[in-house]
Amino acid sequence: MSDSFEIFTVNVLPADLQYDVEGDLSLLEAAEMSRVQLPSSCRNGTCRTCLCRLVSGEVTYTIEWPGLSAQEKAEGYVLPCVARPTTDVVLDQPDASAS
Ligand code: FES
Repeated sequence: MSDSFEIFTVNVLPADLQYDVEGDLSLLEAAEMSRVQLPSSCRNGTCRTCLCRLVSGEVTYTIEWPGLSAQEKAEGYVLPCVARPTTDVVLDQPDASAS
């Protein structure tokens, strides 16, 4: 068995943009490599510029305390700059666009 990474598909609503996340890339990094523009600034989980809602799927975080409240997490908000998918995911990010 190799420990090759899985590839997960991201669908960004409402624009219906799709891209794949491969390896240990964050949702934001993979979007940029796929020419999908998501809002971002700090890229380290503190500024919340990238905040959006996870419609379906699961993510894990590259840092211990991403700048999300417990309530936001419970409501399904994620920070794509420090989130890695562990399943295919659907994001709700009205400010996303294709470049
Ligand atoms: S870009 Fe700042 S929290 Fe994601």
